[in-house]
Amino acid sequence: MNARDDSRQVLKYASGYHAPVLWHAVIQELVTDRDGLYVDGTLGGGGHSAALLDALSPAGRVVAIDRDDDALEEATVRLGVAIGDGRLQIVKGNFCDAPDLLAGLGLGKVSGLLLDLGVSSHQLDEGDRGFSHRFEGPLDMRMDQSGGEDASDLINRLEPNELARVLGRYGEEPKAGRVARALVAARPLHTTAQVADIVRSVAKWGQESKTLSRVFQGLRIAVNEELDALDRILEASTDLIAEGGRLAVISYHSLEDRRVKHFMRSGNLRDEIQKDFYGNKLSPWKETTRKPILADEQEIETNPRSRSARLRVAERLKDSDPSPNAHPDYGTF
Ligand SMILES: C[S@@+](CC[C@H](N)C(=O)[O-])C[C@H]1O[C@@H](n2cnc3c(N)ncnc32)[C@H](O)[C@@H]1O
Repeated sequence: MNARDDSRQVLKYASGYHAPVLWHAVIQELVTDRDGLYVDGTLGGGGHSAALLDALSPAGRVVAIDRDDDALEEATVRLGVAIGDGRLQIVKGNFCDAPDLLAGLGLGKVSGLLLDLGVSSHQLDEGDRGFSHRFEGPLDMRMDQSGGEDASDLINRLEPNELARVLGRYGEEPKAGRVARALVAARPLHTTAQVADIVRSVAKWGQESKTLSRVFQGLRIAVNEELDALDRILEASTDLIAEGGRLAVISYHSLEDRRVKHFMRSGNLRDEIQKDFYGNKLSPWKETTRKPILADEQEIETNPRSRSARLRVAERLKDSDPSPNAHPDYGTF
C-alpha cells in the first residue's frame, strides 16, 4: 500500500462531522467476539460505530450512546441501514448510565465498551455551541443542551475561589486565581469572545493561546461533569463487561488518562493494588498493552486532533481465574 492509500485508510470512517481517531487499533484491540454486543459510549459522528459494525459479523450488535442531539441526528442518518437491520441501536443518554440504558433495552453484559472521550470536531467547530475560543458564540458548552447549567450560568454564579478551583483542577491552569478574579470582575459574561478577551488580557505574553485552551477546557469539563461521568462508568464497567470482554478508552488529556490508567492497573479509582497472600496482584482487569497506543505520524499529519490521543485497553478477567501474576502452584486466595 502506498502512502496515499494509507492516508485514505486513516480517514476511512471520517466525515465532515468528525474523524475518528485510532479507529484501526480500537477495532483490533476491542473486538474479541465478532458475534458479540458492543457499546460505543461516545457515538459522535458515528465513525467508530461504523468501523465496529464493519468488523462484526451479521449477528454482532452495537448500542451507541451520546448525550448530544446533533450527534444522535447525524449518526442516525449515517448509520440508518444498520439501524434498519437491527444491528445498531442509538440511545440518548450519559454513558455513565450505560447499565441502566442497556437494561431498558432488555440487554445485560457486553463484549466490549468503547469511550472516545471529550468533544467532537463538530461541537468545537460550531460557534453556536460555545466550546471554542476560536469562534464567537454564546457561553454554552453543554453537550446535552436539553437542560442543566451552561458555562455562562457557571461563570456568573461561582465564587472567585470556586472558579479558580475549576480552572486549576480541570483546566490545569497555573494562574487560575488570577484568571478567575479577572473573570469575576467583568461579570456578567455571556459570550465566548468576552471570556477570551479577558483571558488574553491577563495571560502571560506568548501564552495567550495555551491559557485560552486551558480555561475553556476547565469550564467545559465542569459544565459537563466529565470526570465524574468517567469515574462512574469505569467503576460500572467491571460488572457491565462480560468475562473475556474488553474496555477501550481514548483520552485527550492527562486528567482523563491518569484515571483510566489507574483503573485498568488496579481495578479501582484509588489505584489501590490488592494482593493475595503471596503478593500477587489481584484485579478483575489486565491491560492488553503496557503502554497506551498513540497515533503515528501519518495519522497526526492527516488528523492533527489525534496528536494528544491515548488509547488504553484492558481485558475483563474471568472471576474464577487466578490473577495473571498468581503463584503457579497455589493460585490465589
Ligand atoms: C470525541 S467525540 C466521539 C467521536 C466518535 N468516536 C466518532 O467516531 O465520531 C465524543 C462524543 O462523546 C459525547 N460524550 C462525551 N461525554 C459523554 C457522556 N458522558 N455521555 C454521553 N456522551 C458523551 C460527546 O457529545 C461527543 O459527541
